[in-house]
Amino acid sequence: MSNYDVIVIGSGPGGYVCAIRCAQLGLKTACVEGRETLGGTCLNIGCIPSKALLHASHQLHEAEHNFAKMGLKGKAPSVDWKQMLTYKDEVIAQNTSGIEFLFKKNKIDWIKGWASVPETGKVKVGDDIHEAKHIVIASGSEPSSLPGIEIDEKVIVTSTGALELPKVPKKLVVIGAGVIGLELGSVYARLGAEVQVIEFLDAITPGMDAEVQRQFQRLLTKQGLSFTLGAAVQSAQKKGAKAKVVYKLRKDDSEHTVDADVVLVATGRKPFTDGLGLDALGVEMSERGQVKTDAHWATNVKGIYAIGDAITGPMLAHKAEDEGMAVAEVIAGQKGHVNYDVIPGVIYTHPEVANVGLTEEQLKQAGRNYKVGKFSFMGNGRAKANFAADGFVKILADKDTDRILGAHIIGPMAGDLIHEICVAMEFGAAAEDLARTCHAHPTYSEAVREAALACGDGPIHS
Ligand code: NAI
Repeated sequence: MSNYDVIVIGSGPGGYVCAIRCAQLGLKTACVEGRETLGGTCLNIGCIPSKALLHASHQLHEAEHNFAKMGLKGKAPSVDWKQMLTYKDEVIAQNTSGIEFLFKKNKIDWIKGWASVPETGKVKVGDDIHEAKHIVIASGSEPSSLPGIEIDEKVIVTSTGALELPKVPKKLVVIGAGVIGLELGSVYARLGAEVQVIEFLDAITPGMDAEVQRQFQRLLTKQGLSFTLGAAVQSAQKKGAKAKVVYKLRKDDSEHTVDADVVLVATGRKPFTDGLGLDALGVEMSERGQVKTDAHWATNVKGIYAIGDAITGPMLAHKAEDEGMAVAEVIAGQKGHVNYDVIPGVIYTHPEVANVGLTEEQLKQAGRNYKVGKFSFMGNGRAKANFAADGFVKILADKDTDRILGAHIIGPMAGDLIHEICVAMEFGAAAEDLARTCHAHPTYSEAVREAALACGDGPIHS
């Protein structure tokens, strides 16, 4: 038995960041993790491995489509899938061992095993009971399937199985045109699979700015993905080594069947709090299974906090990280804060898609007086040179004050470009502030400046 100031349960981006910040603030800290490696879903079976496969498959796409145009002749490389998976596993290992190193450096104990909380101030792992003044639940989320669909992670898979397929399928059916479905659908389409995405709603990527949705769908269709929208999947069943998916079109209720070698169920995720004993402790939960917290991430039970995918809000690694740092500061007696209005979202397809703040639809609905500054990457020299001119930057600003209210980018490095707008929004900047900031030439970031100029007297290059 050991005594700690803080025990963090879960070592994903929320948990490990929280543990490190607690240790930096002088708190004696442990982190419980039952997986064999640290880093949670993100590092082991989520963000990081999917980005490795996205990177590798994008290189193939470039070789197949753009190399010859630049005078790089010769056959495009063939795919050694086993080696691609090995590369992906090595990337995971480098990242997870990196967290282990950071734990050692910060003198954080890794308690190996699955935790439960038998009573306030106590964490049980195996037969051991550890004491802590503060307990932070950072137990993350797991895929949520559809009723009646049995996942075997071989033929009918979640993102976990989709990162480990024995071979590239001939036909992949993706259920759900959200982030996971489109990122992993892109990977397999680039590697030669026929990819059909079936989505319940009438547009892909629900909640995103509608102009971006339309352009994104056009570009993905050009890359070979096909979309069946307004379709509710009824069932997916394994038939030998293949699967049959049945869906109904919402417009006329007609039923359709499609065969697939692999079905990826990407219909969202749900909080993972199994086995923690939160019910018995009396920790309040929402109807959606999220741990309820106040504005300082405290649950209704004294000394127990929760962050990340286990609580409300977007299920994003960086949102969890911010909450991890903030709750550590709260526990240490400081003033932790997360600005939920400025949390970027990124889809790591090609082109990337990124957003922050409000969409045009949200502004319309709220009856806000806004203006739109838009700039196409067609007018950006660097993007043209790099075959990356598909897409645009769209900045939404208050019509009277010019204050930036939201930004939506589809284009090269959108996931990086969005951050100058995040910083601007944190400082309450006006579009003119961005427009008057010197941007190096030739960079993609000039498109952001041009969109900001478009909120005022107009862009230069369009
Ligand atoms: P999602 O919530 O983004 O998308 C799920 C989609 O499935 C929705 O469009 C929904 O309308 C559709 N759907 C639901 N039931 C359906 C049915 N019966 N038939 C057809 N379509 C149906 O969920 P996703 O993609 O599984 O991602 C889960 C979470 O992981 C999200 O919160 C996401 O933000 C996060 N994530 C974030 C990443 C990133 O930031 N790049 C990468 C991967 C995941």
